[in-house]
Amino acid sequence: MYSKFGKLKAAVLGGALALGATQPATAEEGLDYQTVSDLLHLVMSSDRTVYTRMIVNRLAVQEKVITASEHFEDDKALVLPAQMFRFGSEMVAEETDAFSYSLLSLWPINKQNAPTTPLEIEGLEYIAENIGENFYGTEELGGQEYFTAVYPDIAVAEACSKCHNEHKDSPRTDFEGGDVMGGVVIRIPMD
Ligand code: HEC
Repeated sequence: MYSKFGKLKAAVLGGALALGATQPATAEEGLDYQTVSDLLHLVMSSDRTVYTRMIVNRLAVQEKVITASEHFEDDKALVLPAQMFRFGSEMVAEETDAFSYSLLSLWPINKQNAPTTPLEIEGLEYIAENIGENFYGTEELGGQEYFTAVYPDIAVAEACSKCHNEHKDSPRTDFEGGDVMGGVVIRIPMD
């Protein structure tokens, strides 16, 4: 099972080895789907945590010099971490159909962020019950086979749980620091 990301190999092989990938790629093989997905997720989650901790939590929660708001234009406020993530994923979708990603939850503030495929539901339930683990599977959608990975999205800062618990549309109000609040779904079409 190998992806068509062979050309990326040289750039990311070091990262794959650092992650402890069990089957490091060779020049002929390229990277397997799971390694590609794990590396993509590492970049996404690092950027997401940096934005939340160093921008939103520091300026909105600790220093209180600006708010973060889903109506960021009207309110002249910071973009929410989830919106930041979605804007990035929308730009990627304009550039390529080699992979796609989204941020979903079993307890979504925005109903559009609820899981829709059976595998998304299974994956979100799995990562909520098995703390610290990722979920990997394959699913067929519209005649195309996909590799689909679901990674836990954790309340890494006080801003995460506080805002969700207090949001009027949140179906859940008891999030605490360290909780799994949802999951990042990465989908790669298989050859
Ligand atoms: C200031 C408020 C606020 C903060 C801070 C915040 N969120 Fe959210 N979050 C929202 C809103 C509003 C949405 C829905 C955004 C949309 O329209 O897609 C959302 C969406 C999400 C979603 C997708 C499911 C859903 O609820 O719609 C997840 C998962 C999520 N946030 C987790 C987090 C995590 C983890 C953090 C901290 C890293 C965080 N949020 C910080 C308000 C917030």
